[in-house]
Amino acid sequence: MPTALLDRAAGATLLARRTRPPARAGAPADRGTDGGGHVPVMAGELVSLLGTGAGDTVVDCTFGDGGHARAVAERLGPRGTLIAIDRDPVAQKRFERLADELTCALRFIRSPYAQALAQLGDEGVVADAVYFDLGVSSMQVDTRERGFSYSYDAPLDMRMDPEQELTAREFVANADERQLARVLRDYGEERYATPIARAIVRRRAEAPIETTLQLVEAISAAVPAPVRFAGGHPAKRSFQALRIAVNDELGQLDAALPLAWQLLRDGGVLAAISFHSLEDRRVKRFIGELARGCVCPPELPVCVCGHEPEAQPLTPRPLTPSEDERDANPRAASAKLRAARKIAPAGGRS
Ligand SMILES: C[S@@+](CC[C@H](N)C(=O)[O-])C[C@H]1O[C@@H](n2cnc3c(N)ncnc32)[C@H](O)[C@@H]1O
Repeated sequence: MPTALLDRAAGATLLARRTRPPARAGAPADRGTDGGGHVPVMAGELVSLLGTGAGDTVVDCTFGDGGHARAVAERLGPRGTLIAIDRDPVAQKRFERLADELTCALRFIRSPYAQALAQLGDEGVVADAVYFDLGVSSMQVDTRERGFSYSYDAPLDMRMDPEQELTAREFVANADERQLARVLRDYGEERYATPIARAIVRRRAEAPIETTLQLVEAISAAVPAPVRFAGGHPAKRSFQALRIAVNDELGQLDAALPLAWQLLRDGGVLAAISFHSLEDRRVKRFIGELARGCVCPPELPVCVCGHEPEAQPLTPRPLTPSEDERDANPRAASAKLRAARKIAPAGGRS
């Protein structure tokens, strides 16, 4: 058995240094009954952008099923360290399985990634690379009873961390009509946010909305018939919006990006794979601000600010999955990968 230390006080942190030989490459994984597996998106592109190797320290902020982590950790060797973060206990189980197969030092923090990154910063961890693979895993979406999917009838839950208090059911029960409309519009970019919010409020006055199917019915009844029968599922955007709200996904990302950047050594790489424009816009803006040099007003003839860029973008345009990958894994279709390298200021850091 690998030696393992479970430190619950420090946010359920598991440290493991393996003592067994690595498993045969390509050996089939035992997926268990917790939602099948997750196919990592643009894994080759991610590994090559991170450029990490033997002895490096890498932080995976969204461990999931560990597909990216495995590809990255295989290059770190016995002197390297992989720190994995996820708020989902199912991901922690997957990590424990993977820990047996790798030679590097491994550590798991079960916590929202913004809090975990702050903890690592307090500990003085310095990373060669930090990356995010945003959103939900296939294990979460495909586990019916977790209530992420409009395709199955299940309790309206949608929590990535099942110990979190707020569920989608509570959100739908308690948010007022304006809040509901704002979430559907801002997080789902849902054109029919106002009629859907009104329909939810009307429906819940008759009987509580407790299941995914009840919510799908309320949404479907609120959108015009041609929309109901054309294009994607009429509840797709609303489900995305509620999931983002319940899990505070954008708040987490806004808090985490600067914390991840602070952990990096000069020359280290930050990378993020996003699946919708709300995430991608944040990553793009964050890298763009760090990559800016002079911030003087344009009317000044010479630079007086002395501001220097802190980041070198490695993806001036985001990378997207190849056609082959999109064909093989339709869930990859909307992915965008951006990365940036931290650069040392010309005068060195104070
Ligand atoms: C797209 S999946 C990652 C898949 C993973 N890269 C792989 O190859 O299997 C996203 C994972 O991030 C986790 N996650 C999302 N937001 C999080 C947050 N704010 N804090 C911690 N984990 C988060 C989810 O629980 C989920 O397991």
